[in-house]
Amino acid sequence: MASGNVVIVGGTQGLGRELAQSYADDGHEVVVTGRDQGRAETAAKEIGGDTRGIGFDLADPHSIADRLVDVGEVDYLVLAAIERDTNKVTEYDIEGALRLVTLKLVGYSEVIHALHPRMDEHSAVLMFGGLARDRPYPGSTTVTAVNGAVTSMVRTLVIELAPIRVNALHPAIVGDSPQWIDMPAERHDALVSRTPIGRLVTMAEVVGASRFLLENEAINGINLAVDGGWLCM
Ligand SMILES: NC(=O)c1ccc[n+]([C@@H]2O[C@H](COP(=O)([O-])OP(=O)(O)OC[C@H]3O[C@@H](n4cnc5c(N)ncnc54)[C@H](OP(=O)(O)O)[C@@H]3O)[C@@H](O)[C@H]2O)c1
Repeated sequence: MASGNVVIVGGTQGLGRELAQSYADDGHEVVVTGRDQGRAETAAKEIGGDTRGIGFDLADPHSIADRLVDVGEVDYLVLAAIERDTNKVTEYDIEGALRLVTLKLVGYSEVIHALHPRMDEHSAVLMFGGLARDRPYPGSTTVTAVNGAVTSMVRTLVIELAPIRVNALHPAIVGDSPQWIDMPAERHDALVSRTPIGRLVTMAEVVGASRFLLENEAINGINLAVDGGWLCM
């Protein structure tokens, strides 16, 4: 395995942070980012190892390249950040929609643009989408749209960045993630009843799938659902 940085955008919390912990524990240099410099530095310290934190707002894409200027060679770039936007087209919140669309589509792309010169033929990019792309719900208009766009972006990025590999991971609701750990029991049970493995997927399973997509050098252009068979129901 190469020796450059693992950069995890949206690595201060949740799935990104769990993946950062896994790579830091294995001795990699890790960069975690979030919106706030202080919070990113605190997360890096808590993760430990050779980890550092950088703060920037993906919804302000013009600021991104400067904030990444002293990141060295990059083996693996993970784009996991999200600001969830609950938005129905009948009660449309333009500001919320603009932030999420900018963050996931322009922000993710600008991070890749800024770090691309520091990647080599063994490097890989992993973007996080989600299964709202296939299973919309009232209020998911923006989330469904951006996750669908992540799915499409994989294809063009594979071509534009070749031989760098690009994949995306689309989790179902991850039961032990900070976003969902405290969900009402009724909702939890309803989700489990529609999940063939009889439970919700876990952060550890998402980390395992992420590392497979990043590290297996034959895997390119894949949109992987990590859902315990939910899409089969
Ligand atoms: N959790 C799930 O069950 C689930 C299900 C389906 C899909 N996903 C996808 O998996 C990914 C991770 O989800 P998660 O639940 O682990 O997320 P999370 O716990 O809400 O964490 C979000 C991360 O994004 C960062 N962030 C938020 N807004 C940002 C911005 N404007 N600029 C830069 N960084 C920003 C946050 O950093 P700060 O707070 O430090 O700013 C934090 O590190 C997301 O892309 C999500 O769509 C998750």
